[in-house]
Amino acid sequence: MVGNVMAKFLEEGWEPALPEDGAFGYDFELTRGKEKVAVQVRSQKARVYLPQLRRFEDFLDSSEARRFARGFLISNSGFAGTVFAYMDSEGIGNISLGTLENGTVRWFPEEDPTAGSSPREKRYIGVFTCKGGVGKTTISAHLAGAFALCGYHVVLVDLDRQGNLRKLMGEGIYLPHPRKKAGTTITVLDQHEWDENRDPETGIVICDCNPEFSQNPVELMSRFDYCLIPTTLNPLGINKNGFIIRKTFQEIRNLNRKTEMFVVINNFDPAEKKRNQVLNDLLKNEFKGLSMADPLCHYIDPDDVSIRFSKQLLYWGYETVIEDAEPQLSFRAFGGRSLPRSDFLALAEYLQNHSDLDKIKKALAKTPVKK
Ligand SMILES: Nc1ncnc2c1ncn2[C@@H]1O[C@H](COP(=O)(O)OP(=O)(O)O)[C@@H](O)[C@H]1O
Ligand SMILES: [Mg+2]
Repeated sequence: MVGNVMAKFLEEGWEPALPEDGAFGYDFELTRGKEKVAVQVRSQKARVYLPQLRRFEDFLDSSEARRFARGFLISNSGFAGTVFAYMDSEGIGNISLGTLENGTVRWFPEEDPTAGSSPREKRYIGVFTCKGGVGKTTISAHLAGAFALCGYHVVLVDLDRQGNLRKLMGEGIYLPHPRKKAGTTITVLDQHEWDENRDPETGIVICDCNPEFSQNPVELMSRFDYCLIPTTLNPLGINKNGFIIRKTFQEIRNLNRKTEMFVVINNFDPAEKKRNQVLNDLLKNEFKGLSMADPLCHYIDPDDVSIRFSKQLLYWGYETVIEDAEPQLSFRAFGGRSLPRSDFLALAEYLQNHSDLDKIKKALAKTPVKK
């Protein structure tokens, strides 16, 4: 049966090779481009039970198997239910299970892991306003964190010449999954490192834009599916804010006809009830005309979601740069609470409910076996 399986993969563009003398733990290896896969074939009457899967898993974790990106476990009699339950609950991402039926390999869950790494659908979110210092960088980074907590792999593109994201987050952050499932990554790139086909696992690309509109690369701006426009309920600049939002909308719309835009209030202080109401009404009123002319413009009412002022966010840069600590997001809870964490999770949820982002998530959830 090993020979049959090897022939099958050869047909599909893989280069099979038998292990060197003395090597054990797998039956043959497959090479395609830079990728190497260890294959274990089980030709037996009984289905494959959990101990056999765990043995293969241990082999893949061992130092001898370091060169293998993943493993295929192929059975001619199927797999026990416990095998699937274990794969699911432990989030085993580097093993694909297959059966050889009538000369073809059928994959579980049903998806073809040999289909190559064609780029998966992703969505682009631009965080832009033509004003500086209103929280573009803070919001880009923490929204990325919230989406990563929701299970998306996120790429953050730093378009601002100040390069604050890199300073604050280094090359990125890995968020381990709380229940030992595979975690998610936030990767920070600059404009030149960004590449549409870079990482097929990426679900969301968030761009921290340069406040000077013309300084942003057209190639990226025209890809934005959604734009977030941070603003504040600041009494000193409230009339100016209306003007800035209009200008921001126009600049984006002139370049990108399809993008949906969301205004979000940053630095919100819920204690200032009266002031908030007056200023919010003013801004919303300004906004009405805009959204009538352009139905893809939305105003996120701070009663629904806002980013509250938080000292954790204020000191975000201080903690990471001055104290030279590991890059991290301001999601740590104090006294069991973290304003940034709950606000950004709420923002991520709001955006998911008002967009097609959950489509990508479903696509990700469907493919747990693919590394
Ligand atoms: N919600 C918030 N609470 C407290 N401080 C904030 C908040 N949002 C932003 N800041 C602080 O305001 C400053 C400007 O924010 P930043 O994200 O760098 O703005 P931009 O990228 O638009 O220039 C930073 O010092 C940041 O830490
Ligand atoms: Mg910035």
